[in-house]
Amino acid sequence: MKLQLNDSSLLQTQAFINGEWVNGDAGETFPVSNPATGEVIAEVASVGAEETARTIDLAEAAMKEWKKLAPAKRSEILERWHNLIIENTDDLAAIMTVEQGKPLFEAKGEVMYGASYLKWFAEEGKRIYGDVLPSPGDRRSIVIKQPVGVVAAITPWNFPNAMITRKAAPALAAGCSILLKPAAETPLSALALAELAKRAGVPAGLFNVLPSKSASLVGGEMTSNAKVKKLTFTGSTPIGKLLMKQCADTVKRTSMELGGNAPVIIFDDADLDLAVKGALVSKYRNSGQTCICANRLLVQEGIYDKFVEKFSEAVKQFKLGHGFDDDATHGPVVSKKALADIDAIVQNAVEQGANVVTGGKPSELGNCFYEPTILTDVNDKMSIFGEEIFGPVAPVFKFSTEEEAIAMANDTEFGLASYVFTENLGRIWRVSEGIEYGMVGVNETAISSEVIPFGGVKESGQGREGSKYGLEDYLETKYICMGGL
Ligand code: SIN
Repeated sequence: MKLQLNDSSLLQTQAFINGEWVNGDAGETFPVSNPATGEVIAEVASVGAEETARTIDLAEAAMKEWKKLAPAKRSEILERWHNLIIENTDDLAAIMTVEQGKPLFEAKGEVMYGASYLKWFAEEGKRIYGDVLPSPGDRRSIVIKQPVGVVAAITPWNFPNAMITRKAAPALAAGCSILLKPAAETPLSALALAELAKRAGVPAGLFNVLPSKSASLVGGEMTSNAKVKKLTFTGSTPIGKLLMKQCADTVKRTSMELGGNAPVIIFDDADLDLAVKGALVSKYRNSGQTCICANRLLVQEGIYDKFVEKFSEAVKQFKLGHGFDDDATHGPVVSKKALADIDAIVQNAVEQGANVVTGGKPSELGNCFYEPTILTDVNDKMSIFGEEIFGPVAPVFKFSTEEEAIAMANDTEFGLASYVFTENLGRIWRVSEGIEYGMVGVNETAISSEVIPFGGVKESGQGREGSKYGLEDYLETKYICMGGL
């Protein structure tokens, strides 16, 4: 299939370094393919450690002027970048669908979501305040905020646009420069963003995109180079831990948005239709490939059967298809490997006694399509209870009491997103305070936006993205003592 774009210059395949399109030193490339068809869409330039080191030097130099620029000027540039993204939504969404697989309507939604971070931080960057502290005697104590320095970012394939702007917007608004390694599966969305950043007037060296077939070469330089002051990563917990260890030698700031095992707790007193809708939206968004997707549906015994009935009726209405099909509600998963991992989790659960209500196997549509699946007869002793599924599979667990639900929700090393459905106000507070998660959706699962602090506790990571809290992650706090007054 030939990708039809209104503006073909958005389809870039070289690295973007210091405002220029360049190949890697070794002239190597790697293929990017469409998960719906397996077809190779593009060969993209692959950079290594030396190009990364050079980019870091350039990013450091570029930051010198940028951090001195009036915040309102930085804001204007970010706003222009935002506007260009909105104007080019159709093309950006098409590029995303072809490399990641999500249906076009969902890709358009992500482009808007991604752009919202630029608008938000364009505004928020004008409100970086310091402080004057009440101080003893002939001195005054002042606190100022300064950009943390050169930022390195490593971003995932599940949100090829929004996870980039969520990092780049606060970094640039704070006065930092940023170099980014996009996921090898989805570099084209990142490169299209770079083209628009250039058109928006983001000065050379401030936003750099380093595609690579070797995560360890680029990541190794990013984490070991002392000029990089902060690493921000969205991805799996094992890789996050490795990066944190690598960053320890140069004591870098880190923000880690890692894995999740989100519970959706549905009590007998919940609004059943609302709970079904919420669970559907959360579980099957992006074919189950988000860190905040419902991973465990915990349903109280009195409502369990009714919930499973309504939930499965709705799931059976889904239309699996290629992202460009008008009637596709859900697309493929990202790769054959991802599909094999998902299927292994399901078959393992079935061997341990799970019942397949619907789905439970790869679809005949293509190598990366998995049938939307519901499993019952699952319990907290099974491995599926502790695994991050990252696919369209919903195991529905049963519980009896509120205490049991809280204990089950907390019985995991993860602590990113969680959801509670109940009409009881006291229970809302007890459960929201009792579960160990960075985010709690009450009677709501669509919790993400640019205005909220996105992030987790426990092994789901550290730091927050979006909102006024997200800007703090890109700022240092400096204390100035003025004496002899
Ligand atoms: C993620 O899965 O990492 C991000 C999801 C979101 O921003 O809603």
